[in-house]
Amino acid sequence: MLRIYSAWLLILLQLPNIWCMSDGRRDELRDETASLFKHGYEGYMKYAYPADELRPLTCGPLYRDPDPNNVGINDIHANVSMTLLDVLSTLPVIHPTAFPKAVQLVAEKVSFDQDVKVQVFEMTIRALGALLSTHQTLDDLPDDPTEQYRALHLDQSEVDESWIWSSRKSSTIDVKQYKGRILELAYDLGKRLLPAFEPVTGIPYARVNLRTGLLKGESIETCTAGAGSLLLEFALLSRLTGDDRFEQLAHQAYLAIWNRRSAQNLLGNTIGTHGHWLAPGMSGVGAGMDSYFEYGVKAGIMLDDDTYSDIFYDSYAAIQTYVRTTDGFIYRPIQTRLLQPASPSTIDSLSAFLPAMQVLAGDVESAIKSHLVFWNLWRKYDAMPESFLWQERKMEWTGYPGRPEFIESTYYLYQATKDPFYLRVGEKILHDLKTRTKTRCGFATLKNVMTGEQEDRMESFMLSESLKYLYLLFANTPFPNSNTVFTTEGHPLRMPPSLLKQPSSTRRALRKGENPTCPLYRPNTVGGSSGSPGIIVGIEGRGDYDYARSLVYGLDDSGAQVEDRRRIWYDGGVCKIPIEPKFTFEIVLSPLDSNNATAVPPEDPSPGPNKVNQDPLTGHYQITDVEGLRLGVRWRFDGKGYDVASIGPHRIRQGQNVIIRDPAMRDHLPIPATTPIDSTSPPELLLRFLSYSSPKAAISLQSSEDDGQVLLHAVGATAIFGNEFIPITPPELDEGPTSWRIGQKPIPLIIPPETDGKPYQGCSAMSLEWLGIDHDSRDPFVLMVSRGGCTFLEKLLVAADIGATGILVIGHPPIKAGEPVSPEREAEGGFEEGLIRPSAEYDESDPRFRNVKKVGMIYTEWVIGEVLKQMMQEDDKKILGIEILNIDSPEGTLMPPVGSMTSSRSCEKDRTTGEGLLMVGDWPIMNLRVTDNAIRFQQGKSPESL
Ligand SMILES: *[C@@H]1O[C@H](CO)[C@@H](O)[C@H](O)[C@H]1NC(C)=O
Ligand SMILES: *[C@@H]1O[C@H](CO)[C@@H](O)[C@H](O)[C@H]1NC(C)=O
Repeated sequence: MLRIYSAWLLILLQLPNIWCMSDGRRDELRDETASLFKHGYEGYMKYAYPADELRPLTCGPLYRDPDPNNVGINDIHANVSMTLLDVLSTLPVIHPTAFPKAVQLVAEKVSFDQDVKVQVFEMTIRALGALLSTHQTLDDLPDDPTEQYRALHLDQSEVDESWIWSSRKSSTIDVKQYKGRILELAYDLGKRLLPAFEPVTGIPYARVNLRTGLLKGESIETCTAGAGSLLLEFALLSRLTGDDRFEQLAHQAYLAIWNRRSAQNLLGNTIGTHGHWLAPGMSGVGAGMDSYFEYGVKAGIMLDDDTYSDIFYDSYAAIQTYVRTTDGFIYRPIQTRLLQPASPSTIDSLSAFLPAMQVLAGDVESAIKSHLVFWNLWRKYDAMPESFLWQERKMEWTGYPGRPEFIESTYYLYQATKDPFYLRVGEKILHDLKTRTKTRCGFATLKNVMTGEQEDRMESFMLSESLKYLYLLFANTPFPNSNTVFTTEGHPLRMPPSLLKQPSSTRRALRKGENPTCPLYRPNTVGGSSGSPGIIVGIEGRGDYDYARSLVYGLDDSGAQVEDRRRIWYDGGVCKIPIEPKFTFEIVLSPLDSNNATAVPPEDPSPGPNKVNQDPLTGHYQITDVEGLRLGVRWRFDGKGYDVASIGPHRIRQGQNVIIRDPAMRDHLPIPATTPIDSTSPPELLLRFLSYSSPKAAISLQSSEDDGQVLLHAVGATAIFGNEFIPITPPELDEGPTSWRIGQKPIPLIIPPETDGKPYQGCSAMSLEWLGIDHDSRDPFVLMVSRGGCTFLEKLLVAADIGATGILVIGHPPIKAGEPVSPEREAEGGFEEGLIRPSAEYDESDPRFRNVKKVGMIYTEWVIGEVLKQMMQEDDKKILGIEILNIDSPEGTLMPPVGSMTSSRSCEKDRTTGEGLLMVGDWPIMNLRVTDNAIRFQQGKSPESL
């Protein structure tokens, strides 16, 4: 069964002719791109072939570097005419006359039996991908050579050079005869890469020797992208040859990486083949990670396999939640454990692939934004610098080796939006490539995009990808059809219907009701009103177009450096930094217990069919008992609000609806807010932990001269009850602290001793002596307690009794895969490992709760507590201090405020049907309905009609 993927079916809007590029001009640009490509190809064939690469300045061949450590060259140079191999799939598109001869040369001359150590990833994406793609192209050609000639659109008036197939001389060459040989080469190469896979973990070593296999003492260090981007090529190789090993190993490697994700679904960048993440523990979308995500979405499309698309959408949600800045424009690396931006914070040119992937995934709006940042980088430097310090607005690495990612994204966005803006972007790219990188025989790498200084290297992707995507852009070539994708090296690969695997019956059942739709791109308009559509202004007319520009340039064209990012954009107080709604979060449902407001229902991590089930007819999910259900909620790509993406372990797919028909909810329509939030505290804060050597400092850090040493930073979530965390203002500094404030001087952090090997949970009061607190001092302190044992409210009341200013709650330890969960923990509902906002319900007028607002509560992850405890163990004379900072600092906010779930907005009830739509802040959860009408659903009607 073929599944047509919606991403290919973007509905394209034709824009009016304003600012349009004429078709004539576009054709001119296409032809100009083609002639640049021919220039580079012929230069390589004349001056460098059969070497792997051309030296574009000295016009000679570039061979392997005798220095084995020069991996920049040697990873790719396998003595297999790599540039010729890599352009094989581009020739039929741009320079078809050269195609037959090129195929013949590869088929007859290339051998992978070489005594060279090369990179598995590079050999796969450049060589293996090209061979498989070429095999498929040849397979598609008619058997009759004359017909082949016609199918390839060969131009009769080509020059007669030895590396060009002369139509006059050899029009009878049967290029299809090489089909088998090309696949044989691919198979041979594939087998030579197999020794790379570590047998236990399944994670491949980064490099192997093509002749002798894995070398003794080979480095175990590899990266997420390197291990996770073999899927497309290996899967197709397996299905074409019938040898399952390749697909199995690539699949295992992909999952081996995913299974090591963090609690937030984040992956690290560097991993050892033994399966442990290695320093520096960063997560992002650029170098080292990029194509892992890309291959998730593309394998989902090509193999029609939900395993990969599910992984992709989960990892994408984590990226949108943690890696993306709150304005929605920048994707910068973060520390995987602490969820803090890396410092210094850079974006690299490889991450310019992201908009293309976002278009494929259906998130066109995010693609437009991320592309605008790279567009401004390109136009500022007339090329794409390798790495950019976005906060300082200056380059980190100045080179540009002809990389394709930005061009690729421009092509995808043009196809998705048909906005001529992207053609003009292409025009600028073409101009810069021509004037800055073109040499007598090829294209040089730019060593410095500012000075234009060139380097004697032409990577094979300059021809095979950069010029190809530029050509596809101007040729207005639509995306390939279903089950076909461009690999990360730009080689089109196709899974023929005969080789597709049937999804299992369980998977088919789960897919019922699934209806992937693609967000329709709506161009920006101005002057419209309800009755008139307004004038289409396109990408450049977007309100945030200039915002993206200011991110790269600053406010004035000279690129003056501005310390505070907010200052420049609050120019005259007119423009606001855009804020994207939080991408994902979780909510736990429970009916309100009207007899006991403090009752906290246990979470149900694996709800059975008595609570959740899928309607076999419609595929929709119904919830018959809401008690303790955990809903994962995700932002919709069409910008209309949120969708429920999961209920506990059940995944809700696009188009599937969730209907709550719990009789207990009947009395609660509209649903009373489970947790009214009237807190003005920011949802998350940056915690800074310091250590002090002098015990005296402990008495009052407020008056301490000892500045302390910063131990670590962490993100904490504020409770939605208790003390409000507000920034301290200068006059209050003098009065001394009355409550826990943002920006206050550090407060001593007390870590109570363990009893019976168990950390203090703060459920019962302890003496100040036991806690190690001086009786007479009336100084503030913060108590660290572990989650569990009692409710958050009880912990806070106990802390208030002891006289604490604040309480730092440490989350549960992560649950190891396959390890049983203790009943106590299950009862506490302690399944989450990331941040949550503690909540409580109580009657404010009840005198028992009069102290609640005096104590502040912050929740942080388990690992933070572990690190702090360990530091204390090393030196028990040390005194800890804790300080809280507003996370919404110019360094980039990690999380935007979640719309609060207030009682007034929690539910909009349609009185006539007794249904409610759950609101999260300003946004509805679109696929969730609360109904008291059970019968209609049982009749199998689709809820849209309710
Ligand atoms: C390169 O490969 C060819 C055969 O494909 C071989 O004859 C030649 O010796 C190789 N060169 C080196 C330097 O290994
Ligand atoms: C209310 O619920 C809490 C927590 O579940 C429980 O400890 C307490 O005993 C309950 N109170 C009443 C009056 O049932």
